[in-house]
Amino acid sequence: MKAVVYHQHGSPDELRVEDVQEPELREGDALIEVSATSMNGFDPMMLAGSTGLKTPMPMIPCGDYAGRIAGFGPNTDAGSWEIGDRVCPHPFVFGEGMTGETRTGAACERVRIPVQNLIKIPDAVSDVHAATLPIAYGTAYRMMLTRGEIKTGETVLILGATGGVGTGCVQLAKSAGATVIATGSGEEKLDRLRKLGADHIVDSRAEDWVAQVHAIAGKPRMGVGGGVDVAINYIGGETWAQTLRCLRADGRMLTCGATIGFNPPTDIRYIWTYEQRIIGSNGWMPNEQVELLDLVAKGGFEPVVDRVLPLEALREGMQALIDREVFGKVVIEVQRDS
Ligand SMILES: NC(=O)c1ccc[n+]([C@@H]2O[C@H](COP(=O)([O-])OP(=O)(O)OC[C@H]3O[C@@H](n4cnc5c(N)ncnc54)[C@H](OP(=O)(O)O)[C@@H]3O)[C@@H](O)[C@H]2O)c1
Repeated sequence: MKAVVYHQHGSPDELRVEDVQEPELREGDALIEVSATSMNGFDPMMLAGSTGLKTPMPMIPCGDYAGRIAGFGPNTDAGSWEIGDRVCPHPFVFGEGMTGETRTGAACERVRIPVQNLIKIPDAVSDVHAATLPIAYGTAYRMMLTRGEIKTGETVLILGATGGVGTGCVQLAKSAGATVIATGSGEEKLDRLRKLGADHIVDSRAEDWVAQVHAIAGKPRMGVGGGVDVAINYIGGETWAQTLRCLRADGRMLTCGATIGFNPPTDIRYIWTYEQRIIGSNGWMPNEQVELLDLVAKGGFEPVVDRVLPLEALREGMQALIDREVFGKVVIEVQRDS
């Protein structure tokens, strides 16, 4: 079958379209004919070999996908699933890890996945939209709603709001009734953030971005008020301590990653003085993915798709992610959505 592969870590030049072996189905597996897959911030990190995770080589990128069931492994109890059903599987497999990280990805014609990971795509959701949802939106959903419990009327600061997780955070915060302060860079991306519904935009490349947040939400002062109720920070590095300075007393800082540094300098004075709460969030559960698919089916929000590329142009999507030219998600169409 056709797949995009790399045989060693490096730049997008390592990506090639090749004929590879069909997946070997095991007991309990389904075979999925992939129609669309999508890229995430971790794809360039995996390609570069900067994550510390052991990469199976040759590696196929991409963890999210949508498609149709094309078969089942030997002696598999398929339950009520049938060949031809449209599915968007949860990509994390116990004992193997995340698709596109420690198990080969979905930028190919067919993948194997345990039947227990299968999730139905509602009729009203296209394969392209379904393929955007698991990793970026699933992570945003769990962090914002399940772990962060964002409520109507709260002010939420979202750092790095232009990416896959970030645009999802903006949309979910708005649908929860929050006021959103979104940061990012590049005129066009900032304009798209405004159109997506962000109430205030801050250029993260401005030296005084913290002062800009203070001008919008007030500077936190004991007993006086000021500051945002919730701050989302998966950027890390120097932005970590800067973000603490934006958070109100008893505010929540939510994190699911560390794009530019996982052991940043912090400032513990803010944490104790303002009794701030730091809340971690990792991945998402299958029921959260089902809720997201239902939300899209009911018109709750439309996933943000920056561009749809054929499999042969995946390298272009990878380079765009590296160059920070992507707003939302890059989708790779493997076989046409019918
Ligand atoms: N724990 C989990 O389960 C989980 C799951 C998914 C993702 N994550 C993590 O969540 C983060 C976002 O993932 P993603 O897929 O949304 O990535 P992405 O699409 O590549 O988005 C990256 C965002 O980060 C910003 N950014 C990149 N480099 C930056 C820098 N040097 N300084 C400030 N901002 C910077 C970009 O903003 P501009 O380019 O506009 O400035 C963009 O908004 C990553 O750290 C990822 O590892 C964690």
